This record gives sequence, C-alpha cells and structure tokens, in this order.
Amino acid sequence: MTDIHSQAQALLPRCIADRRWFHQHAELSFQEFETAAYIEKALAEIPGLALSRPTATSVMAVLKTGRPGRCLAIRADIDALPINEANELPYRSCNQGAMHACGHDGHAAILLNAVRLLAAWREDLAGELRFIFQHAEETPPGGAVEVIRAGVLEGVDEVFGLHLTSTLPTGKFGVCSGVLTSATDRFEIEITGKGGHSSMPQECVDPIVVGAQIIMGLQTVLSRSIKPSDMAVLSVCHANAGSAYNIIPGAMHLTGSVRSYDEAVRQTAEQRIRAISQGIAQAAGAAAEVDYIRGYDSIYNDPALTQWARELIAGQFGPEAVQELAPIAPGDDFCYYDQVCPGFFLELGAANPAKGSDAPHHNARYRLDEDALAYGLEYTAALLAQRCRID
Ligand code: NI
Repeated sequence: MTDIHSQAQALLPRCIADRRWFHQHAELSFQEFETAAYIEKALAEIPGLALSRPTATSVMAVLKTGRPGRCLAIRADIDALPINEANELPYRSCNQGAMHACGHDGHAAILLNAVRLLAAWREDLAGELRFIFQHAEETPPGGAVEVIRAGVLEGVDEVFGLHLTSTLPTGKFGVCSGVLTSATDRFEIEITGKGGHSSMPQECVDPIVVGAQIIMGLQTVLSRSIKPSDMAVLSVCHANAGSAYNIIPGAMHLTGSVRSYDEAVRQTAEQRIRAISQGIAQAAGAAAEVDYIRGYDSIYNDPALTQWARELIAGQFGPEAVQELAPIAPGDDFCYYDQVCPGFFLELGAANPAKGSDAPHHNARYRLDEDALAYGLEYTAALLAQRCRID
C-alpha cells in the first residue's frame, strides 16, 4: 500500500478494459442486468468480500477488516442513457438506443478496480468498506432511494462518490464545500378557460390572456419572495395553446423548471407558483391546476470531509490539481446518501479536446478521456486507504 500510484498504474489496463466492456454493453436505468452480472462476477473473483444485490440490478461488496474503525461507503452509478451513440469506436455501444453518454461506465470501472486494490491491502486497513454499484441514477426518482431503503447505509459513518466531467480537463479535481448541485424541479400548469369565437370574447374565458398574466406573475416568485442572497432560477420553457387565428382556445398548458440550492427556497417557490397561478386564474373566471414535480435534492458536501479530501488530493497529485468549484447545475441522486451521513462528492476532470473528448454530457458524441480513469482509480484507492488506515 506504500506506493498507491504505481499499483494503480499497474491496474490501469484492466480498468480501461472494464470500462470498454461497460461502454459496449450500455444498459438503461433499471435494466442494468448484464452490467450488474459482470460486476458481480468480477467481484466474486476477489477473495474475502461479502456480495449482495440490494435490488435486481445493483450490487454491493463489503470488505470487513475485522479491526475496529470507521464504516465507509462509496458509490458508483452504472446506468446509461436513451441515446444512439454517434461515436465510431471499436467498443461502441452494441445496444441500440442505449449509450454511456454520462461517464457512468468510467465510474463503474474505477470503483471495481479500486476494490481490487483495497482488498489486496486489507491487512493495512481498519473498519469496514462498502462498495455500492448503484443502478438508475439517470431516471428520477432514481436508484439511490431504493438501495438506501434496502439498508446499504445502515451503520455507515461517511459516504463518497465522484462524477467524471467534461467541464474540467483531465488531471483536475473539482472540489466544492457545502451545496454542490441544484435541486432540479419541474412544474406543469394546466389553465382551463372557455373557448369560442375570437370576435366574441365576452362569451369566453381566454386562457391565453390568463396564461400570459401567470407567466408574468411567476417572474415575481424569485424577485419578491426569495431573499436576494439565495440563488434560484425559475423559467417557463414551454407554452402551448390554440389551433387557429380566429378561435379562442379552451385551455393552455405551461411547463417550466425551478433550480434552487436550499429547501426553504424550494418550498417557497412551489407555494408561490400555486398561489399566483390559481389566484390569477380565479380572478379571470378560469381554473389553474398546478403540478410541482420534485427532481433530485442538492448534494451537500460536508465541509470537514471536503477539506480532508482537498488535502489528500493536493498531497497525492500536487496542489495545482485541486480546482475550487462554485455550485453546479446538474443534479445527481447521490444527494440521498449525504442526507443519511456526512459525504463528499468529487467532480473529476475528463475533458481533453486534443483527443476529441470535449462533447457535453448526454450528447451522442460524448466521449470520456480514458486518461481520467488513472486519476479516478488512484484517488479512490488513496482516499479509502487513508480514511481506513490503521492508526
Ligand atoms: Ni451522470
């Protein structure tokens, strides 16, 4: 365990081969049957692990050292997206309509090979390690709530995770203390009026006029009801009504999103959207039905753990490897782990324009830079080995 760097390097070809297998056999959320079977088979070849299936397509490996110490959990998500891959690669996805376009193939390969290293170092470790290969991150309400309900975090003291990202170059470690990601909510407003002839508005209740007032009214949710220091965004992104130039339609549908970083802001936003929509509609003699659909919560990075990880990264890879981040927009169901115990979630750079690895996530040409796997593997192994070290 003395030379984590060289041992991680030695395992790199295997990590790349695993990642390519996952990439080629991309499977959608809740359908990760082959992926889970591959992981379980690989873990079964590592001696001394207790394996289980928290759900049909998730896998957990537990390494008990037999010595008292912390119980740590680490999670990798393993699912792919409903996209037809546009990359020409020898290991291109062979499942039509499923592609690893978010880097979860890399997450799974990094964690699988970190298990290989840590299992070999078990005599130098204390406490317990739980490796969670989680299904269905991409499809809210997501797999995290299911595996947590199955008990994977019972007795766990700290939890870790990472995401490869094309927003940072390979070799950079994105670190953010406190709130890391936004909560990603959606709202749907169905306005019901009364349709009729455009020349006889007095006989109608025009839902477009009501909808226009609601759209303007919603602009006051953030500007008048939320503290200026609280960050949030509300956007009406889709408005749909009408069929002809001379017909007042009977209904209008509005859809939009709310992104926030605080539970109180979220609750206020939902409550104000309902009150404004229903109040404006009622005043006009129309009705507004509001659906507020919660996406994932924010990830919260424990400040003490974050500082510890920051120092570990600086020590292992040099101070210049640490990239301080402001909160980012994409959500992740890792948020449900860090609601149970303190957690740290890393954004790991995997962009390299020289190699064509700079397309955004969820794009048919997304391509992670495999050099990032070396950083991910070494980081994960070092993190857990140091955190579980015998004192
Ligand atoms: Ni992702």
